[in-house]
Amino acid sequence: MIKQTGWLTSLLLAGLASAAASAAEAPISKGHYLAMAGDCAACHTAAGGADFAGGLKMLTPVGAIYSTNITPDKQTGIGDYSYDDFAEAVRGGVAKDGHQLYPAMPYTSFSKISDEDMHALYDYFMQEVPAVKQADRDSDIPWPLSMRWPLIVWNWAFHDEERFKPDKGQSAQWNRGAYLIQGLEHCGTCHTPRGIGFQEKALDQHDAAYLTGGTLEGWHAPDLTGNQKEGIGSWSQKDIVSFLKTGWTADTAAFGSMTDVIEHSTQHLSEEDLNAMALYLKSIKPSDPQAAAPQQDNSTRTALVKGEMSRPGAQLYMDNCAACHRTDGKGYSNAFPSLAQNPALLSDDPSSLISIVLRGGKAAVTHGAVTGLTMPDFAWRLDDQQVADLATFVRGSWGNNASAVKAEQVKELRKNVSTVERKDPDKQRKPQK
Ligand code: HEC
Ligand code: HEC
Ligand code: HEC
Repeated sequence: MIKQTGWLTSLLLAGLASAAASAAEAPISKGHYLAMAGDCAACHTAAGGADFAGGLKMLTPVGAIYSTNITPDKQTGIGDYSYDDFAEAVRGGVAKDGHQLYPAMPYTSFSKISDEDMHALYDYFMQEVPAVKQADRDSDIPWPLSMRWPLIVWNWAFHDEERFKPDKGQSAQWNRGAYLIQGLEHCGTCHTPRGIGFQEKALDQHDAAYLTGGTLEGWHAPDLTGNQKEGIGSWSQKDIVSFLKTGWTADTAAFGSMTDVIEHSTQHLSEEDLNAMALYLKSIKPSDPQAAAPQQDNSTRTALVKGEMSRPGAQLYMDNCAACHRTDGKGYSNAFPSLAQNPALLSDDPSSLISIVLRGGKAAVTHGAVTGLTMPDFAWRLDDQQVADLATFVRGSWGNNASAVKAEQVKELRKNVSTVERKDPDKQRKPQK
């Protein structure tokens, strides 16, 4: 019996090992690699739909739009696009028939893509992506807001169609990182705040607003500058590489919309490119050099362990969260992330903390971390005031030093819950109000 198990196990392990090896070694074209860096599949593929055939619903402030079919099908896709048509759509935001694209397509970042890379991308889409016949869907934006001609004005005001210009004073590695982050990887679409025209306020580090945090669809993408409190001032270059490669550092896990970025894009990048990106991020000056890093503080843990539950949210924390994130808020390394001294929770905008409590989470599934541990969703068990008390408790415990959260903020974010993730049939209960 034991012998048999051993035999079976070694066979299975051999199978796994060869599967892993072939996944790691399978050579891909340059264009394929760049398409992963640009995360084209994430936006151009609907849940359960064919790759790049479009139809993914995306929310904008004026209504929902749907991404388009970019497979080389001649009738419904981009099969009749020449290289110039393709480059003009991707960098200039203008489709072959001359209509303006909504800036939900990140052409303001993609304009930095070099000609060489654009050719590789074009070849990939024309030669490697299978053609799929699937007509594009019209947007749900009501007329007259759906008219596209005002986008010409928008482009005039906000879009510079400029290639990436290397900074001669910086190393080749720094420039490679800057090129990827500002261009194909379009990290600023989420991490840079938006102005009144819904435009990104900055497109590179020359402007102090660049990568200082932004909020989309209920998730706050935090400050990525050297800010010690709510930025990544306390992260090493190695932490950043590990996070982008696996979805984890020793203390935190990617969550919310960041998990998609890691699963579809950054985990597939080479170690070299990830290091270049991390080096560039570490070079960005802190948004607020005065911001105070949260200090280590044991008083919360001591109170919880003694059963002192007078602070609002304390009892709720013990009942719903402490089993995984523990009384010291530190969780368990590589399993349950730390809530103590976690910059992603300390921004003035508490959206991500509220949203993960309401909607739950599933860690990124990557080659480096295959389990995809989950956190339950609490929208069904906790009301707005309870979630606000909990969020305030987390933001003010174990040395965390961020502002309190109000029930109205929870109410606003709860609107996303019923429409977004309700796939599990036994959870079709009504959310609390
Ligand atoms: C953040 C989401 C997002 C990402 C990432 C993205 N796109 Fe798009 N793209 C869109 C949306 C949405 C549209 C449709 C816009 C509209 O209808 O005005 C679009 C339109 C296009 C079009 C015009 C096609 C047509 O039929 O009109 C092309 C070409 C295109 N994208 C190529 C790409 C490529 C190549 C990449 C990766 C390098 C990419 N996109 C990445 C959202 C995205
Ligand atoms: C679709 C929106 C989106 C895009 C695009 C995006 N991010 Fe994020 N990012 C988020 C959100 C939301 C969080 C907060 C949740 C978390 O910490 O994982 C986050 C968190 C992070 C963190 C952790 C910060 C912290 O304080 O915990 C890093 C580092 C990061 N992103 C880097 C990047 C880089 C580099 C890119 C470009 C390759 C990128 N992100 C693109 C949404 C995005
Ligand atoms: C069953 C274990 C479990 C319970 C109970 C739980 N969590 Fe989590 N929590 C997790 C896991 C696993 C993750 C990582 C999820 C992800 O990456 O999307 C996580 C992530 C988080 C994060 C994001 C931190 C980061 O940087 O990754 C926050 C904030 C959080 N939990 C708060 C809470 C709060 C508040 C409660 C109580 C209402 C709670 N959790 C209950 C397991 C749990």
